[in-house]
Amino acid sequence: MKGIILAGGTGTRLHPATLVVNKQLLPVYDKPMIYYPLSALMLAGIREVLIISSPEYLSHYRTLFGDGSRLGLQIAYAEQQRPEGLPQAFTIGREWIAGEPVTLILGDNIFFGNGLGPMLRRAVARAEAGKGGATIFSYRVEDPQRYGVIAFDADGRAVSIEEKPERPRSNHAITGLYVFDAQVCDHTVGLTPSPRGELEITDLARRYMEAGTLHVEPMGRGFAWLDTGTHDSLLEAAEFVRTIQHRQGIQIACLEEIAFLQGFITAEAAAEQGRALAKTAYGRAILTAIEEEAYAPLPFGERRADDRRRG
Ligand code: G1P
Repeated sequence: MKGIILAGGTGTRLHPATLVVNKQLLPVYDKPMIYYPLSALMLAGIREVLIISSPEYLSHYRTLFGDGSRLGLQIAYAEQQRPEGLPQAFTIGREWIAGEPVTLILGDNIFFGNGLGPMLRRAVARAEAGKGGATIFSYRVEDPQRYGVIAFDADGRAVSIEEKPERPRSNHAITGLYVFDAQVCDHTVGLTPSPRGELEITDLARRYMEAGTLHVEPMGRGFAWLDTGTHDSLLEAAEFVRTIQHRQGIQIACLEEIAFLQGFITAEAAAEQGRALAKTAYGRAILTAIEEEAYAPLPFGERRADDRRRG
């Protein structure tokens, strides 16, 4: 499974904050926004990542992540000349995807919740299995007309998918995280632009729904799916991250910590990066994770990071 982060767009709703900075590089509390979607891909076990952004900002992402090796990842970069809709990720990335299953996440989507990693890994395993298919994640929201909306029948089967409907048939928004099987690039080919002039990810998801291979995972009460589209929602997301981090003394989306715990990098490599950032809670969290991993009781059947790395 490969992963794509779409970090394009013009960020007009966040002007003037985004006049000279790509939205997904703005901080959400203490780290760049793109750390959050990258952390979700890493929790899904994905190690090959393509970052797509507009030509003027791509070099910033290169400076931030390089080839990804410090996180045990392989990160590649691709230009999006003009934003023409989310499925464009599969035309821009077609060669890089090379016929493999792929997870797409939007660079401004923040997910947090207990069990997120296992939920994502289940979806990945499904897409990689013989029958394939796609998984989307739904989330109850107060203002569904701002999103893709999915409605279910009495048996809980998905019956309609609509993009930003004026009269939503449910309160269940489709989040910006999509796990697709190896056929996704082929399915993208026949898409045509919607009235707003863009290819729509909801049209792609509908194809899977009509083929009977769409899985919908509801993200229930224990999850946070945060929006960063406006100045207020960006500040609210930052406050959420700050509140959890302060209360629990943990870090949300600490990439080096996740890389270590997933067995992508060694304790030594993580510690070196933690020490370099030791003036911050972020850096100290990396060092704490290494210490705690060595002593923490393990749930039945789980293995320590170093053992996982050894395979
Ligand atoms: C896009 C998708 C929409 C989805 C949303 C999630 O909307 O088109 O279906 O619900 O992302 O963030 P956009 O960001 O283009 O408004």
